[in-house]
Amino acid sequence: MSDKLIDPADWPGGVLLNLGCGHHAPKTWINIDRSPMMVLRKAPRVRKALRKVGVLHDAHMIDWPENIIRRDLSKPLPLADGTADAVYSSHMLEHLFLEDARKFLAECARVLKPGGMMRLALPDAEQFARDLLEAGDDPEGKAGIQYGEMLRAHPESRPSGKRLVAFVGGSNWHRWQPTRGLVKSLMTEAGFGDLTEYSFREGKLPHLADVEQREDSWFVEGIKS
Ligand SMILES: C[S@@+](CC[C@H](N)C(=O)[O-])C[C@H]1O[C@@H](n2cnc3c(N)ncnc32)[C@H](O)[C@@H]1O
Repeated sequence: MSDKLIDPADWPGGVLLNLGCGHHAPKTWINIDRSPMMVLRKAPRVRKALRKVGVLHDAHMIDWPENIIRRDLSKPLPLADGTADAVYSSHMLEHLFLEDARKFLAECARVLKPGGMMRLALPDAEQFARDLLEAGDDPEGKAGIQYGEMLRAHPESRPSGKRLVAFVGGSNWHRWQPTRGLVKSLMTEAGFGDLTEYSFREGKLPHLADVEQREDSWFVEGIKS
């Protein structure tokens, strides 16, 4: 993983950070993720072999674009203070331990210019809970199972053998649930103000349509004060 600082001179259109980008890497954004799948992007045969023995699934067979910086976002961001124009992060924050999510938001505030904007897209944990309650006594048990799946708090069966390798190597589990109140208090604590919720692809973030993919989310923007 590279420790080189991002140079704003290389980004005349603006330093726009897409953090925890997955394999969606628009050219207008600086895309960062640490998925182990990026290591295998030049090794399709190894991927195929790992799928054959059950360590990887079909979803892992996607070719990850080259324009993604591999970096662990629980560590400091590779930027000097006050050099970024905007930060976008979709369905990533809840994959960090809560204490690391706090540090991550503080890092986003550190690297943003005053007045810089941050937008988060997050799974709607409150809606999942409402769906569960609306299912009543859930006679077939479907709502209970679905609730567990939506929370992605843990696998449904004990990982063992090959699946244990994928489980330990992956970071696919949600480590906390991003309710609106909790996320907004974390953002405020990190130094963001003017917190505003928006709908899908609506808001003030620059080049939003390039980067926003997940309608199955709730969205909040804040300004670095
Ligand atoms: C659920 S995916 C979301 C991908 C994409 N942003 C989206 O909205 O579909 C979570 C992404 O966060 C990345 N991620 C999780 N923990 C991370 C970490 N500590 N550092 C960097 N990326 C991380 C994963 O590799 C994965 O690509």
